[in-house]
Amino acid sequence: MKTLIICASYHHKNTMNIGKKMAEVLDATIIEPKDFHEDMLNRYGLIGFGSGIYNGKHHKSILALANQMKEQQHKHAFVFSTSTIPAKTMHKAMNDILTEKGFKIIGQFSCKGFMNYSFSKYIFGGLNKGRPNKRDYIDAMNFAKKIKAYQSDNGEK
Ligand SMILES: Cc1cc2nc3c(=O)[nH]c(=O)nc-3n(C[C@H](O)[C@H](O)[C@H](O)COP(=O)(O)O)c2cc1C
Repeated sequence: MKTLIICASYHHKNTMNIGKKMAEVLDATIIEPKDFHEDMLNRYGLIGFGSGIYNGKHHKSILALANQMKEQQHKHAFVFSTSTIPAKTMHKAMNDILTEKGFKIIGQFSCKGFMNYSFSKYIFGGLNKGRPNKRDYIDAMNFAKKIKAYQSDNGEK
C-alpha cells in the first residue's frame, strides 16, 4: 500500500525536513498542499498530514485541505508537526477534521522547530536553534518504522 505525505512547511522548512525523513522510511510521496488533488486519495492507503504549528494549530492551508476532502471509509492517517513547544494537544484541530472525515489516525509525532518570527528573533536570534536536529530525525524515522509495522500487522503492504 502506498503512502502520501502532505506537508505545509512555510517558516523554515522544519516540518518538511521531518516529513522527508519519514518519507524515506515509508517510501512515501511527499507533496505540498498546492499539489494535492482529491483523486490522489484513490491511489494511497495511508496519508500523513504535517505542518508547523501556527497559533496553536496546524497551518491553515493544510486544515483547509483536510476540510475539503470527501468522506473516507476508515482510511489510515498520521499527523505530525514541529513547533516552539511541541505538544500533541496542538493537533486537536487537525485530528478533529480527519476523524470527522472518516480517517483512522494511527499515530502522531511532534518535535521542536526553529522559530525566529516577530519578537522571538530578539531573544538569542530565535528559539530552538538547530531544531529539528539529528536526534529529532532519528525519532521521526523510528516513528515512521512503527507506522510501517502497524500497517503490515494490519494486513497492508
Ligand atoms: C506566525 C507563527 C506562529 C506560530 N505559532 C506557534 C504556536 O502557537 N505554538 C508553537 O509552539 N509554535 C509556534 N510557531 C513556531 C512554529 O510552529 C515553528 O517554528 C515550526 O517549526 C515552523 O515549521 P515550518 O518551518 O515547517 O513552517 C509559530 C511560528 C510562526 C511563524
